[in-house]
Amino acid sequence: MKRIGMGLVGPGFVGAHHIDAVRRLGFVDVVAIAASSDASARLKADALGVPKAYGSYQALVADPDVHVVHNTTPNYLHVPVILAALASGKHVISDKPLAMNAADARRLLDAATEAGVVHAVTFNYRGNPLVQQAREMIAGGELGDLHFIHGAYLQDWLLEPTDFSWRLEPDKGGASSAMGDIGSHWCDLVQHVAGRRIVEVLAELTTVVGTRLKPSTSTEAFARGGDEGRQPVAIHSEDLATILLRFDGGAKGSLSVGQVCAGHKNGLWFEVNGRRASLRWFQERQNELWIGRRDAPNATLLKDPSLVGPSARAYTHLPGGHQEAWADAFCNVMRDVYGFIAAGKKMSDQRPPAFATFEDVTALSANCALPTPPLATSR
Ligand SMILES: NC(=O)c1ccc[n+]([C@@H]2O[C@H](COP(=O)([O-])OP(=O)(O)OC[C@H]3O[C@@H](n4cnc5c(N)ncnc54)[C@H](O)[C@@H]3O)[C@@H](O)[C@H]2O)c1
Repeated sequence: MKRIGMGLVGPGFVGAHHIDAVRRLGFVDVVAIAASSDASARLKADALGVPKAYGSYQALVADPDVHVVHNTTPNYLHVPVILAALASGKHVISDKPLAMNAADARRLLDAATEAGVVHAVTFNYRGNPLVQQAREMIAGGELGDLHFIHGAYLQDWLLEPTDFSWRLEPDKGGASSAMGDIGSHWCDLVQHVAGRRIVEVLAELTTVVGTRLKPSTSTEAFARGGDEGRQPVAIHSEDLATILLRFDGGAKGSLSVGQVCAGHKNGLWFEVNGRRASLRWFQERQNELWIGRRDAPNATLLKDPSLVGPSARAYTHLPGGHQEAWADAFCNVMRDVYGFIAAGKKMSDQRPPAFATFEDVTALSANCALPTPPLATSR
């Protein structure tokens, strides 16, 4: 198989996982990374064992050995980094949220279509075997007509006023904080699993922690910054959201999103109720799928390649009882996207399920872009 060169812009918290995932594929060479300065790029490149280090994304996208550009920068850099990569004719894999508003997402889709390259967004929860199992069961009619799709994505790493991230600064993260950051994962996931699009939303967006103490140096997601030189900053974006949803086909839904919910670390779950059965999947117990029935005992399907359907089986790599996890699902997404690139396919060709595109994001954001300023914000 022809080897593919990967370059990554933004080697922070999630960037390291992109590198780890593509290395596991066996036919991808991690060629270069770009950070915000030559010095920080060299430091990161040495730590991650990457040969080339660039102090600007413009230099990385110009490197002929880089065929695929991964964008893991803070949200405000997604548009310029992706446009530069597309202008150089590179395939692009961007982390979510693709852009800070619907208009920019559409602009990126148009540019990617014009460039004729492969474009993907890392909605990595699609790569979980039991997510694919749920999707297969719903598509096969095992749940009957769907009437309710609901769930939550809750974390606690922004609970204290001393917790800080660029995500909370509108010029870096966008007008939306928790919804853009993690709510975007949930929306993509349920649309993917249920095969239904969210067509209307009614949201109450709340800022629980109205003033935060910003540290003098930036900190990675989930990390606590030092206490020196902190300055109070007023926060206007939401750290809590409660949302009513309508899906095409008539199903109703609800979603709670928060990054200020003590005890919840990466608490993403969804439940789908149909006229014949229900399904529930919880990210923190991702090797289990709950199946609810009225006239038969409820069951918990444990991830096992011999027990799941053929689509889900393609995403399992270990026998039953051997837990698969977040990084394995992430790798599954990369396998889908890089397999597509390696086969020389075009975006008009059929794509494997865990491969989310700029188009998927654009369709969602056009349907229900969060208004700016938010519909309702309470303290
Ligand atoms: N898929 C997921 O589960 C997941 C998880 C975390 C983050 N993300 C997304 O990934 C992106 C990055 O998030 P993160 O938590 O890794 O952030 P981070 O702050 O840890 O990393 C961002 C990196 O970008 C670098 N950077 C800043 N300016 C740059 C520039 N001009 N050129 C090159 N590099 C620059 C920073 O130095 C840092 O290393 C965000 O869009 C976020 O939403 C996705």
